[in-house]
Amino acid sequence: MGFYSRTIFPWLCDLALDKPFVAKHRRELLSEVSGEILEIGFGTGLNLSCYPEEVHKITVVDPNAGMHRRAQRRLRQSDIEVDKRILSSEELPFEEATFDCVVSTFTLCSIRQVERALEEVFRVLKPEGRFLVLEHGLSNNSEVQKWQRWLNGPQQLFGDHCQLVRNIRELVAKQPFRSVELDEFYLEKTPKTHGYIYRGVAIK
Ligand SMILES: C[S@@+](CC[C@H](N)C(=O)[O-])C[C@H]1O[C@@H](n2cnc3c(N)ncnc32)[C@H](O)[C@@H]1O
Repeated sequence: MGFYSRTIFPWLCDLALDKPFVAKHRRELLSEVSGEILEIGFGTGLNLSCYPEEVHKITVVDPNAGMHRRAQRRLRQSDIEVDKRILSSEELPFEEATFDCVVSTFTLCSIRQVERALEEVFRVLKPEGRFLVLEHGLSNNSEVQKWQRWLNGPQQLFGDHCQLVRNIRELVAKQPFRSVELDEFYLEKTPKTHGYIYRGVAIK
C-alpha cells in the first residue's frame, strides 16, 4: 500500500465524511445494532461516536494501516473496546455464524472483490443476523449515471479504488438474505454523482 493510500487518503476521508449531516445517518443506522458486532472498512473510526451507549465492544477490519493510525484519537476518546484487525473483508478470519450484526458504511464502494466480501459477510452472520448498510453508489437516474460513469476513472484514482457505479442493492441482494430493505436518496450538501445513498438492513 503506497504513501497516498496510507497518509493522504485517510485525511481526505475525514475531510469528506466527518460531517454532521453524515453523522446523522450513521447514528440512525447504528441505532439498530445489538449483540456481537463486526464493522468492515473501519476507516478513521467515524462510526465510533455514533454507536448507541449500550454498545461496549466491537470487532473491526480494514486493510489500511494508515486508516487505523488516523483512528487512534477517536479510539482513545471512545469507551467502546475495539478489537482491531488490519485485514481485508474478502477473507474474514472468523467462524461462520459469529456476529449478530455486520456494519458497512461507505466501504462497499472500495472493496476490490466486493462480491467475495459480501459472501464473507453473509457467512459470518448468525441466522437472523443483520447487515447494516450506509453506502453511496449508482443513482437510479440515467442522467446522473452518465456522469457517474464518466467520473468513475478519476474517482478510483483519487478515492483509493472507490467506485461511483456500484448498484449496492443488487450486490447485497446477490446473497441469500431473507430480506433486503434499503432506502435510496441523495445525501444533502453533496454532488448527486457522489451522494446517491443506499441505507438500510439485510436480514439473514
Ligand atoms: C471511504 S472509506 C470509509 C471509512 C469508514 N467506513 C467510514 O464510514 O468513514 C473506505 C474504507 O474501506 C476500506 N477498505 C478498502 N478495501 C477494503 C477491504 N477489502 N476490506 C475492508 N475494508 C476495505 C478502506 O481502507 C477505507 O478505510
